[in-house]
Amino acid sequence: MLELLRQAGKRPLSHAELKALIEGYSPTVAAEAAALADEARRAVYGDAVFIRGLIEISNICKNDCYYCGIRCGNAACRRYRLTDEEILSCCEQGYTLGFRTFVLQGGEDPAFSDERLCLLLTAIKRAHPDAAVTLSLGERSRESYEKLKAAGADRYLLRHETADREHYGRLHPAAMSYDERFRCLRDLRECGFQVGAGFMVGSPYQTTDTLAEDLQFIQDFRPEMCGIGPFIPHRDTPFRDFPSGSVDLTCYLLSLIRLLHPTVLLPATTALGTAATDGRERGIRAGANVVMPNLSPEVAKTNYQLYNNKLFTGAESAAEVDALRARMAAIGYTVVTDRGDHKNFA
Ligand code: 5AD
Repeated sequence: MLELLRQAGKRPLSHAELKALIEGYSPTVAAEAAALADEARRAVYGDAVFIRGLIEISNICKNDCYYCGIRCGNAACRRYRLTDEEILSCCEQGYTLGFRTFVLQGGEDPAFSDERLCLLLTAIKRAHPDAAVTLSLGERSRESYEKLKAAGADRYLLRHETADREHYGRLHPAAMSYDERFRCLRDLRECGFQVGAGFMVGSPYQTTDTLAEDLQFIQDFRPEMCGIGPFIPHRDTPFRDFPSGSVDLTCYLLSLIRLLHPTVLLPATTALGTAATDGRERGIRAGANVVMPNLSPEVAKTNYQLYNNKLFTGAESAAEVDALRARMAAIGYTVVTDRGDHKNFA
């Protein structure tokens, strides 16, 4: 297993090899993978941990993904949408606290038209020309992505969710399409975005084969960012009775992804921090180098519930950001005030 771990990133691994790595999981192998991943990350980004200020702009969504708490079919979800003024004030507050990336995330809410988003992007960039803006607003047309890029957006997160066509069909209603998802990712790249893909660990019907396909996709497409976190059931979704994904496996996969693709920006996700109290630290030690504290107002804290008991790692005050700095320093990493671009875009 150690030999195969050493090959990761040196040459493309086959589906069978990736599957063998996943199935070869043991605490010992995971510790070896984490040590190699840490070395690989330090060679590219040193001990830096990049922080992103997350702003959950709307929980209104036209999609009905079976795993997600803000799916349109969830009548129990109290819907909200932030105003442009609220979003700008979140950025203002975040900037003061040292954030140089703002992530605008939301459901696929038709109210966020290209026109509205472009005006908003222009306003954010005018106020904070040295900050990066990441969008995480789902599937849109190529023309829309072009306009958003031209208006100043730097990065776009769109998890692929699963690289296996059949598995994709079991996580999403028929109205959503695997081909369309990957069309979006290709278009985003061609428009010049730093692109984020990603998937949940332990999602219903996931197998080591589908996970090997996810790793193969990461290895081939080489997204600039990759969000992975454990699946956590939400009580008002069709997947309410499925078990949560494993924190250990998530951390091991973070290490594998770091090894396969050393320059990737890899967050220790909110889901990982929710599934274990030291989840984010464990993610960072496994090879992650990004954390995304929440800058959203109170309304989002209660209602942006993709899964139950979602952790709210706030950054409402300098004290909370200082506490995060201290937690990262305690395990040997340095939180930096920096846009934190991917190496090829820096
Ligand atoms: N558990 C964990 N992650 C989830 N997401 C959505 N629902 C859940 C859940 N129940 C993830 C999806 C989506 C991202 C914004 O959150 O991967 O792309």
